[in-house]
Amino acid sequence: MRNGQSLNLNWKFCQGFQEAYVTEEKEDGFQSVHIPHTVQEIPYDCFDQTMTCMVSTYVKYFQLPSLEGKRVLVSFEGVSAYYDLYVNGKKAGSHKGSYSMALFDLTPFVKEGKNRMVLMVDSHERADIPPNGATVDYLIYGGIYRDITLFIQEEIYVKHVMFRYDMEEGLVKLRPELLLENAGEDSPVMVETRLYDGEKEIFFHSQVLTVSGGSSAVNLKENVLEKIKPWSPENPVLYRGEIKLLTQTQKILDQAEANIGFRKIEVKPEGFYLNGKKYKLVGLNRHQSYPYVGYAMGKRAQEKDALLLKEFMGLNMVRCSHYMQSRYFLDCCDRIGLMVFEEIPGWGYIGDEEFKKVVFQDLENMVLGHYNHPSIVIWGTRLNETIDCDELYEETNKRCKSMDGSRPTTGVRWETGSHLIEDIYSYNDYSEDDKGEFVLLTAQQAAENPKKVPYLLSEHTGAILPTKPFDSEERQEAFAIRHARVLGKINTMDDYLGGLGWCMFDYNTHNDHNSMEKICYHGVMDMFRVPKWAAYLYASQKSPAEEVVMEPCSMVGRGERCEPVPFYVLTNCDYIEVKLSTDITRRYYPSVKFNGLKHPPIEVKENGEFWQKRWKGARITGYIDGKAAAEKIYSDNPYLARLLVQADDTVLYNDRVDETRVVVYFSDENGNRMYFHQGVMSIETEGEIELIGPSLVPVLGGAAAFWVKTKASMKNGTGKIRVSAHRPGLEDQEIQLSLISEGKKEP
Ligand code: GAL
Repeated sequence: MRNGQSLNLNWKFCQGFQEAYVTEEKEDGFQSVHIPHTVQEIPYDCFDQTMTCMVSTYVKYFQLPSLEGKRVLVSFEGVSAYYDLYVNGKKAGSHKGSYSMALFDLTPFVKEGKNRMVLMVDSHERADIPPNGATVDYLIYGGIYRDITLFIQEEIYVKHVMFRYDMEEGLVKLRPELLLENAGEDSPVMVETRLYDGEKEIFFHSQVLTVSGGSSAVNLKENVLEKIKPWSPENPVLYRGEIKLLTQTQKILDQAEANIGFRKIEVKPEGFYLNGKKYKLVGLNRHQSYPYVGYAMGKRAQEKDALLLKEFMGLNMVRCSHYMQSRYFLDCCDRIGLMVFEEIPGWGYIGDEEFKKVVFQDLENMVLGHYNHPSIVIWGTRLNETIDCDELYEETNKRCKSMDGSRPTTGVRWETGSHLIEDIYSYNDYSEDDKGEFVLLTAQQAAENPKKVPYLLSEHTGAILPTKPFDSEERQEAFAIRHARVLGKINTMDDYLGGLGWCMFDYNTHNDHNSMEKICYHGVMDMFRVPKWAAYLYASQKSPAEEVVMEPCSMVGRGERCEPVPFYVLTNCDYIEVKLSTDITRRYYPSVKFNGLKHPPIEVKENGEFWQKRWKGARITGYIDGKAAAEKIYSDNPYLARLLVQADDTVLYNDRVDETRVVVYFSDENGNRMYFHQGVMSIETEGEIELIGPSLVPVLGGAAAFWVKTKASMKNGTGKIRVSAHRPGLEDQEIQLSLISEGKKEP
């Protein structure tokens, strides 16, 4: 559909709902809010887990031009968890499901001029809506947390376009399918298909067809495309596909476009193949939650997560655990070449027939809605960690295949020996043996013994050693080393499709899944996406040509573990040298304990007592090809000397709510993060920005982070952020952001 106009700004919101809100134009006591929005901000930890379980009301006024012969539609991309939609006092629809997009035809309800839309949002954890039913290990939060778009269309419009294709030996056979809506009579239309490589049109085709009244699916004629560059993680080539619907007099009825990446996916018991090349899938699971606001974070924050996974940690796959995620996240995965395993919402519970209806609706939503994303290479058609329910899963798998035969399907299990209905057996394997020097993962054959089937390790590690960013050195190191062992083992399991660690970052959850503070500390990063050492373990597997990584799993001092050694250094350097005090320099090589890792951690192992006595600080230098490539200096009397402030972005849009993250590292005089500093930081903002969350925050593991967002006031301008550690001798720091507005107004 074309001409979408954002309806994200200037809503009225109140907790609670009354029938009168639907018909009476009175919003006394309502707050003015923008989307994305959460019904209730929650504290970082130790909150009542029912805080966001409520009914609430959203109201929006919008203007429409003369509507002669037009259709008016609105799409909601994510509202948690159920809502009734009213337009000008009448019910226009409802929707179940926190993660699926819904499109409503408002034509019978709207008029020229002022219109009023009301949503009654129910964010209770209702057992008729997946994933709820058991005590789920995450929160569903509440509110309108993804975009709302208004469309003014002709009688005929394109609801979906799926750029279907086959790819064989460099030749692409393109055969787009259109899902069309026609509110009028059967009509002839001209369909033009174009493909662009950047700005250059590289393919054009037109054909005439008759669009029947109501909903219809049309397969366009197949065309062969030559010299197409394939999409891959190393070279994520994107083309832009465009469909235009025209009347016989050349009037454009509608237009749809999508980024397309051409690739061929195959899964075999021997592995995962993309364009004929075998890949080991290495990645992490990602939730879509953020501190305080839950799911209510916009485009830039979603994109940042994809960048952290691919660019910072060097991974090639993410599992969208356990639901469909933002299109902004997926678009970014398309652009940067991060492969995605996306699955339908669910967690350990299968409900009744009403619940299953939502499962089928979610499935259709996911497969049709996200069909064009080249990054998505696996669909999950089971609800995470549920028992075998062949009738349901044969049906979800069959329906998925009928909508998309090009991608393999899977479903995530917590046990071996369950019935394999899909193409890939995915198993959450937390069976690693951490006692010995080696790791035992489940043998691939155990899944469907004795047959070997395509097998993916869909979760590992995090849950069995929850690690807080302020935990002891030993614990944090153990967490990183455990990831190292499992990753190495995955790499040596030739036929495993790959392994996805649990999980990218810590997340808020229900009481049953933590030490009652409502945080699962399972992430390789904290909730603010500040890396723990485990994140550097992944980063250190990158090629040094991409980035030289050298991160000791230690504060490099004596005391915390009684003696300063041993400790591991996570690095992709060939070797390191540690200069102790002023006189002794020793060289250390990658440890032989980590079979399967490209860059095993380096163990600095010495006679502790000897080092203890001579301890006067140290210098660690990493070498590549015999040349010093990284260096860290540690004094024997480090003190908190500086706040190192990093904003992810310094230019933000102010014609929408745009956000960026700021990370403050509390560092010593040599720039080393002081992990055990117990302090606070206050944050002040000025200008066209607002802070997300509280203005006084604790320092967690030597870092404090937060997001700021623009006020969407449509002005160019600036925003100033000032952080203060309230400590004599430590200077406050300021960052200036530039805010730009293209002046796009809402209807
Ligand atoms: C798995 C589950 C995840 C997470 C993890 C850690 O069983 O699939 O969602 O809960 O355990 O506890």
